[in-house]
Amino acid sequence: MSYFALIPAAGSGSRIGAASPKQYLPLLGKPMLHHSIGCVARAPIETVFVVLAPGDAAFAQHDWSAFGGKVEPLYCGGGTRRDSVLNGLVAAMDVVDADDWVLVHDAARPCLPHADLERLIDEVSVDEVGGLLALAVAETVKRVALGVDAAVADEVRVECTEDRSRLWLAQTPQMFRAGLLAQALRDARGVVTDEASAVEMLGLHPRIVRGSRRNLKVTFPEDMAIAESMLGQE
Ligand code: C5P
Repeated sequence: MSYFALIPAAGSGSRIGAASPKQYLPLLGKPMLHHSIGCVARAPIETVFVVLAPGDAAFAQHDWSAFGGKVEPLYCGGGTRRDSVLNGLVAAMDVVDADDWVLVHDAARPCLPHADLERLIDEVSVDEVGGLLALAVAETVKRVALGVDAAVADEVRVECTEDRSRLWLAQTPQMFRAGLLAQALRDARGVVTDEASAVEMLGLHPRIVRGSRRNLKVTFPEDMAIAESMLGQE
């Protein structure tokens, strides 16, 4: 049984409002993707598969030699994150066995602490289902009316307040056995924004492993400065 990482990096990153895709924006002089790969390209991970859009011309222009041949680009990204991960898994099945563990990590999480990765691998390696890093919700959470896109609406009003004691924010990496994950993603219906939700649709309950706030998902323009300052402290 081996460990592999898979990073879907075929998104356009439109919410960050930059001209080039988010994964190639520079952080401390290197593309964000370089840092995200570096977070997972450590023992015991054998290969880091990076799933790129079929027409991606940027990846080949950067230097990935720091990872000593551990990085394998796969030009098979799809229209959604789910499609990109599933296409990547199918392409990787030449070398990945159904029982091997796959850690799916976002290109947009360049600050994953090594201690979080170690905790995930330690706790999930002995789990029947698999699991993910997640963070207990600290803020009070409001639900707004259905159909309102809070990111663009002029006026947004609260419908109700959620019970935050039962809410966790899903992070990555999310770690599942390759065979189970491929089946879950193939069978998934509706909107699937992470791997765990596809596994949940099989009636299974992924294990939550405590993550940390440092594992920020770079999404909005102001996140770039926060990520850069955290990387600078390492
Ligand atoms: O859009 P979001 O920020 O949630 O994307 C999370 C991850 O999924 C990013 O690493 C992004 O590049 C990737 N993605 C992808 N293919 C898509 C959409 C997103 O690989 N079609």
